[in-house]
Amino acid sequence: MTGDAARPALELRGVRAAYGSIEVLHGVDLVVPPASVVALLGPNGVGKTTTLKVACGLVTPTAGCVHVAGRHVNGAGAHRLARAGVRTVPEGRGVFPNLTVAENLALASADRRHAATVHEQAYARFPRLGERARQSAGSLSGGEQQMLALARALATDPALLLVDELSMGLAPLLVEELYEQVATIAREGVSILVVEQFAHTVLGVAHHAALMMNGRVQFSGPSAEIAGALDAAYLGTTGTGARP
Ligand SMILES: Nc1ncnc2c1ncn2[C@@H]1O[C@H](COP(=O)(O)OP(=O)(O)OP(=O)(O)O)[C@@H](O)[C@H]1O
Ligand SMILES: [Mg+2]
Repeated sequence: MTGDAARPALELRGVRAAYGSIEVLHGVDLVVPPASVVALLGPNGVGKTTTLKVACGLVTPTAGCVHVAGRHVNGAGAHRLARAGVRTVPEGRGVFPNLTVAENLALASADRRHAATVHEQAYARFPRLGERARQSAGSLSGGEQQMLALARALATDPALLLVDELSMGLAPLLVEELYEQVATIAREGVSILVVEQFAHTVLGVAHHAALMMNGRVQFSGPSAEIAGALDAAYLGTTGTGARP
């Protein structure tokens, strides 16, 4: 499955999806332009993770269209979408905790020769991973595990990266560092859709933002224009000091 690099990396039109008989996406419209960072924001349970699952083929939409690089891929399945360059960094760190950092990277590599390149690139991007190459992934800090998860995802040279809650449970400074890397990865040509519940840091690097409420994208546009919509969306939430 080859796509057209000039087309949006991802386009969802009127996407509906359900778990059993319960519909949770009620017509999602979302576009990720090539080599850009799009932030998908919204409170708990509105359908952000489900939207990512549709985009990577883990959930098949019941209606609407999913396009990856201009190709209609509804129902293509996760394996075919992975071959088309769609890669996820799932919520809660996509690493093998009992394996070392180096072993985690080796497993993400196609073969031994490729592994050498993957290690080199991962340690150049995240020097901290290089210092901890022989440490088990489970004993890394939360932020270091996210770095490893990103490095593993990049090992497959993805065209579209889908990232769920990169910042979960991490200190603000570390989140900023991770998002600087996200911005760099996009400049290198990868299109990135990032889900975040809290918006502040991601909006610093995202070109576009979309706000999800109740299974739909209620607002989408340039990141700079979303502040008003966010205030309205989160009005009345109790807040934890981590407001957008
Ligand atoms: N595997 C599942 N089976 C049944 N219902 C599910 C499943 N996964 C999610 N849901 C429901 O679908 C709705 C949307 O969930 P989703 O995980 O997409 O939300 P979210 O916006 O990512 O939330 P959060 O910010 O808490 O991660 C929720 O009501 C959730 O309970
Ligand atoms: Mg989620």
